Amino acid sequence: MSTVYLNGEFLPMHEARISPMDRGFLFGDGIYEVIPSYGGRTVGLGPHLTRLQQGLQAIGMVLPDIEWTHLIEQLLDQNGRGNLGVYLHVSRGTDTRRFHAYPDPKSVPATIFAFTFDIPAEPVADISLCKKYRVALSEDQRWRRCHIKSTALLGNVMHFQEGYSAGLDETILHNSDGCITEASACNVFVVKEGVVYTPPLDHQLLPGITRQILLDILRNHSEIDALEQMITLEQLNNADEVWLTSSSKELAPVIEIAGKPVANGEVGPLWLQAQRLFSQYKYQY
Ligand SMILES: Cc1ncc(COP(=O)(O)O)c(C=O)c1O
Repeated sequence: MSTVYLNGEFLPMHEARISPMDRGFLFGDGIYEVIPSYGGRTVGLGPHLTRLQQGLQAIGMVLPDIEWTHLIEQLLDQNGRGNLGVYLHVSRGTDTRRFHAYPDPKSVPATIFAFTFDIPAEPVADISLCKKYRVALSEDQRWRRCHIKSTALLGNVMHFQEGYSAGLDETILHNSDGCITEASACNVFVVKEGVVYTPPLDHQLLPGITRQILLDILRNHSEIDALEQMITLEQLNNADEVWLTSSSKELAPVIEIAGKPVANGEVGPLWLQAQRLFSQYKYQY
């Protein structure tokens, strides 16, 4: 039975209750985070909490003043310290009426919810063992504030479903100018002639923590060039390698996009090198 945290209390999941008037429920008015942990060790805890604080600031909220690290430690302890994703969720609280304007936080405090869920074992840098991703390709139809990790995920859910219902693992998205933004729940990296590229941060994509850690590792612990640059559809189609990154997947090699193989349709050597480096250094973040 999993133990969750809700507004200051630890309790069994089936006992956790929120009001249907919660603005997270009515409007998707909230911010969330997912932090991976393996055997009780988190990856990127500091950067994840910073992004939570920045996301809340972007929607006119402040990070509730609680001991986040202690809360996470307690949740991990109470849920067995296995391979766990920690989900943190802060919504704009439970108002008495359904009204769009932000309520006064003094009378409507934030709702704070956290739980853990099982994630796959730590990815290993091994071409024969790794999951190979086949993905769809679609025009990005989401809002223009994709840098905010909002709980309002319907746009992402619909894009993920496009791939999923076709039997695929993800959907890579491009904007109307034909430039890659990200995927429905991952960032995108492309390799060409030994150089690693990922789109620069702006309102079209989430500033992924795995993306940030990977760029830092490549730049500080390898000779591999890693550039933040626009990637066109043509560059995606002609890539030597394509990877997706996210907290639960780390680096996921893509072998097929919209029915066409990426290069020769096999996992490439730079993925192996980069995932090896990521596995080696990730706990430093
Ligand atoms: C839309 C989107 N982009 C990128 C990512 C990857 O972010 P992170 O590496 O912080 O998990 C996620 C993760 O959930 C996401 O939902």
